[in-house]
Amino acid sequence: MAFVQRIIFRSSEQYKPGDVVIKKEDIAERIKELALDIAKDFAGKRLLVIGILKGAFILTADLARELHTAGLTDFEVSFMTVKSYRAGTTSSGVPDIKNDLDIDCRNRGMLLVDDIFDTGKSIQAIHKKLIEQGARSVKSLVLLSKPGRKEVSYTPDYVGFSIPNLWVEGYGMDTNEYGRGEPNIIIGV
Ligand code: IMP
Ligand code: MG
Repeated sequence: MAFVQRIIFRSSEQYKPGDVVIKKEDIAERIKELALDIAKDFAGKRLLVIGILKGAFILTADLARELHTAGLTDFEVSFMTVKSYRAGTTSSGVPDIKNDLDIDCRNRGMLLVDDIFDTGKSIQAIHKKLIEQGARSVKSLVLLSKPGRKEVSYTPDYVGFSIPNLWVEGYGMDTNEYGRGEPNIIIGV
């Protein structure tokens, strides 16, 4: 397996809008690695994979295929829509859980899939809600984490890449709803 740099060290001053931060080949390779870990950890267990819309729509699709390829085939997929109340690139408070699950989560083992762990408020709130609704276990995977921005005690279980405080888009992630189709992860334009 090719070596994938999991921590991006370059600081924000070294980038300009549109620069590639993580290449699509490295994203694909890292998702394969994570899927192998998850397939091992959940072997023999039924799993409910929950993609957090909209940012994780591409990630959830790619992860589902890699999980299946890695031998973990016994899972359902569902989605929740969460708005983190952002005007442009600034978070302004409590996340709003818009669309709820269409599946009864009582007694289920779940894997939340989100694009970015920024302050961590969104995923912590979703985790709390699912546990309150009776989920047996709620693990989480995030493609990107910005450790410098963390404001909660919650820590995701699987992390694709750690990045500095950069505003990024592509691979499903947006800047004011645009840029989601860019195959690489780039600096927001
Ligand atoms: P948190 O609640 O602060 O962790 O916010 C997480 C959510 O904010 C992510 O799921 C993204 O939707 C969004 N977000 C945070 N940083 C970025 C970014 O750099 N680009 C695009 N979306 C981002
Ligand atoms: Mg999001």
